[in-house]
Amino acid sequence: MKVIGFESSCDETGLAIFDSKAGLLAHALHSQISLHSDYGGVVPELASRDHVRKIQPLYEEVMKQAGLTASELDGIAYTAGPGLVGALLVGASAARALAWSLKLPVIGVHHMEGHLLAPMLEDEVPEFPYISLLVSGGHTMLIRVDGIGEYQLLGETVDDAAGEAFDKTAKMLGLGYPGGPLLARLAELGDGSKFHFSRPMTNRPGLDFSFSGLKTAAITEFRRTVDYEGMRSDIAAAFQDAVIDTLRIKCERAVRQEDLKRIVIAGGVGANRMLRERFQTVFLEQGIQVFYPRIEFCTDNGAMIALAGCLRMAAGEKDDEPLPVRPRWPLNDMRSPIRRA
Ligand code: KG4
Ligand code: ZN
Repeated sequence: MKVIGFESSCDETGLAIFDSKAGLLAHALHSQISLHSDYGGVVPELASRDHVRKIQPLYEEVMKQAGLTASELDGIAYTAGPGLVGALLVGASAARALAWSLKLPVIGVHHMEGHLLAPMLEDEVPEFPYISLLVSGGHTMLIRVDGIGEYQLLGETVDDAAGEAFDKTAKMLGLGYPGGPLLARLAELGDGSKFHFSRPMTNRPGLDFSFSGLKTAAITEFRRTVDYEGMRSDIAAAFQDAVIDTLRIKCERAVRQEDLKRIVIAGGVGANRMLRERFQTVFLEQGIQVFYPRIEFCTDNGAMIALAGCLRMAAGEKDDEPLPVRPRWPLNDMRSPIRRA
């Protein structure tokens, strides 16, 4: 079964084709970073307009990459939420119009399910059950994944998401947008031991996170420290250390609590090189396997939507009635799990 996926929930337009037998056949991505950088954040109206401009050329590109004609597609998937409403509507309208014209089934996918299943795009696929650490610009969650659609939220941030804390701290350090990767690059040049930031909410039980205070601590330190060469990179390194260490401590707790031996990292912050390195070392020593999607599939992309849509369609799911886009869509309000034989 060949399913084309449309992702347009925020500032990336992503299209991809996933085949249930052959795997990923094609994927193409357009990032709007340069469009929004002057504003220091995503401007929703500009995002929607840019999705409109890019969706058709990207459709043609993936069809060409895969060497398929439209009649060879079996289904269409698109991100139905959560995300920016205007941006979601562009992908939803394009996907539904295509489905209508080709008389194909169509399905609205939960963006977070896309992120959660993205490691399945790789050769080494994690077996269920596993703990997923979902760290993006909008979410920081620990989820127990027992199967497709079988997601149990174990803990989440009570304020800023990890990616959001990276972005806001980067902005205060005078870096551009989006700040996460820029702060990470600056941190590589710094000495993390020059400053110390506490690891929030690790000295009490539970799996929730809080990153707002950490961001404020980094900004306060930046404002009160007398400037010296390398000060910004030292603060960036200490901040990054604190975020990664906090995520590591909570992941250790989650695998212990659930008695599991596999961790999957999903979402944009999963692209962080230091996080990947540190998790690999620490968890390997504990006999715990860590799985990551390749870096381009950590951040938003069409491949994870094509994959999630394909898995659900292969199990017989589709949306006959127009599923409205859902800018807010709690993970625990997801469609039913797919039962395995
Ligand atoms: O999953 P994603 O592409 O979009 C959603 O939020 O759904 O994640 C984007 C977030 C941004 O906050 C970005 O700054 C962060 O992921 N990010 C990083 C890195 N690459 C992306 N944060 C830290 N280090 C990175 N290398
Ligand atoms: Zn995302």
